[in-house]
Amino acid sequence: MLKTQNCGELRPAHAGQEVLMAGWVFRRRDQGGLIFIDLRDRWGITQVVVNQETSPDAHRVADSLRNEYVVQVRGLVRQRPEGTANSELETGDIEVVASEITLLNASKTPPFYINQDTKIDEVARMKYRYLDLRRPKMQENIILRHRVVKGMRDYLDKLDFVEIETPILFKTTPEGARDFLVPSRLMPGNFYALPQSPQQLKQLLMVAGYERYFQIARCFRDEDLRGDRQPEFTQLDLEMSFVQREDIITLIEGLMIYLTEQVLGKTPMFKPFPRIKYIDAMEMYGSDKPDLRYELAAVDITDLAAASGFQVFKSSAAAGKPVKAFRAPGMALRSGTALRKLMDDLETLARANGAKGLAWLGMPETEGGELKGPVGKFFGAEQLAELFQRTEAKPGDLLLFITDERETVYRIVDVLRRTIAHELGLDDPEKLAFGWIIDFPMFYWNEEEQRWDPSQHMFTMPLPEDLPLLDTDPGAARGSQYDLALNGYEVAGGSIRIHDRAVQEKMFPLIGQSLERAREQFGHMLEAFEYGVPPHGGVAVGVDRLVMLYAQEPNIREVIAFPKTQAGADIMAHAPSPAEPKQLEELGIAVVYKEDEKE
Ligand code: AMO
Ligand code: AMP
Repeated sequence: MLKTQNCGELRPAHAGQEVLMAGWVFRRRDQGGLIFIDLRDRWGITQVVVNQETSPDAHRVADSLRNEYVVQVRGLVRQRPEGTANSELETGDIEVVASEITLLNASKTPPFYINQDTKIDEVARMKYRYLDLRRPKMQENIILRHRVVKGMRDYLDKLDFVEIETPILFKTTPEGARDFLVPSRLMPGNFYALPQSPQQLKQLLMVAGYERYFQIARCFRDEDLRGDRQPEFTQLDLEMSFVQREDIITLIEGLMIYLTEQVLGKTPMFKPFPRIKYIDAMEMYGSDKPDLRYELAAVDITDLAAASGFQVFKSSAAAGKPVKAFRAPGMALRSGTALRKLMDDLETLARANGAKGLAWLGMPETEGGELKGPVGKFFGAEQLAELFQRTEAKPGDLLLFITDERETVYRIVDVLRRTIAHELGLDDPEKLAFGWIIDFPMFYWNEEEQRWDPSQHMFTMPLPEDLPLLDTDPGAARGSQYDLALNGYEVAGGSIRIHDRAVQEKMFPLIGQSLERAREQFGHMLEAFEYGVPPHGGVAVGVDRLVMLYAQEPNIREVIAFPKTQAGADIMAHAPSPAEPKQLEELGIAVVYKEDEKE
């Protein structure tokens, strides 16, 4: 081995020991006769001292070193002299006095600092990802990811789950995004689809009798990217037979508590995780993945608004639209201009999200004082008392009012809630608030296509009591779906599945697919459903999102070794890239550029 010790392990107890170490020059300080090198490897940083007088050869090499050179150091461990210990480093009580330094490989000056926590240009980070990944924070993230995934495997292995790989070259597995297609050379004109998830395959594994399956599965979805979405991402994918909703929820809750406590070393804010019905989550938080680190919730005041003298609200309520009030604690405790400015900002934000306005009312700073803002005068004393009671308004609070189509109200409540919580410092990333969202509607109405879209996917079973609604009122049917929210992100989703061919076939016309077409696409599933299918259900956890939140990062790119940019590109290796004409010919493919796509 080129090293006997790593850069994170030496302590005062090692003093007097001769060691051989190797790594990168993290930092170098030249004090003439003495050169200090912070030597870095995966495990940490160790200070190396090179003395010109006692080790002239080593000093000559040290003199030529620059940041990110790869070196090997032989030396003697010693306790640092009085007053020079560095409490920020785990190895800060010792140093290695070099007797010999060997240059293993030089380095060009990196395009950004590896050794400073400064803001780095994102393009440079992506282009030189191998350098970005050297940074201690990135190494921490990637290693945390490994530990989380290992934790998942350990936990599930103990419970008798079997990890089974499923194909990447497969057929469309709809999860609501566009497929990535792979052309077949052997069957020209035919395409594989990369799986959006192993959904069908894991259900087929239940038909095959495995009962408890999991996989750390790569999924591919061609959709518009965001901070929490990559075109390829990783799920902990899981399926079980002979279970009900409660069993899967209990299993995943146990796993999440295990990972949070045993792997991350923290405690979830709530145990057990709260369960919120979809409709309640939307009405209170405007979101089906609410951030539960804070309570802030909207309350319905449509009845009070209808009886008020405020024309905007009255006509809105008369038109059947909801009116909601949202309390921002203590936010009216500002001077007139500051309050005006706050309201302008919030109203701009609301309008940018589709609101037509944002009415408000400031509670007096002390009990019995005067209300601020234009809206209070439209409510009678009794109505005001009722309003304050419902919103739990206290002196100094700011009440915001929203009315619009229900979907718009939800969107505004969600964005106001997140913004105000952030403003008030309530979204502490140290906290981890898990919560289940249950009783989703089976379908959303797709106005454009005039059909129902499954709110999860087309294999989800309705709640048993809502099964008859598939024939009479599909919009009212609730699915057996459950989602797990963590700090405002959806980190897992699953359901109990349809395991009956007749019920499955009912789904297709509802979601706008002819039975003929469905049989072409999903014939293998329908056929399998005729050979003794156990009742089954499962779930998939978004590994990238979970680790992102554990690592307190704002973007899943920070926990993926080689992610894509927002435009879906790898700018380090230049993917995607044009194919060779010969490859296209073999595939029987001709590329047709649209006018605006020509380079
Ligand atoms: P779903 O589509 O909800 O369910 O996906 C499960 C979880 O995967 C994560 N996720 C993503 N993460 C990063 N980038 C993306 N583009 C992305 N899309 C989804 C989310 C999400 O909660 N087959 C079903 C699961 C099942 O029913 O068992 C499925 O894939 O955290
Ligand atoms: P207007 O009658 O348009 O001058 O609006 C009076 C007040 O009501 C202003 O503070 C508006 O921002 C607010 N407002 C208007 N429309 C809405 C709405 N749909 N929801 C909430 N507040 C609104």
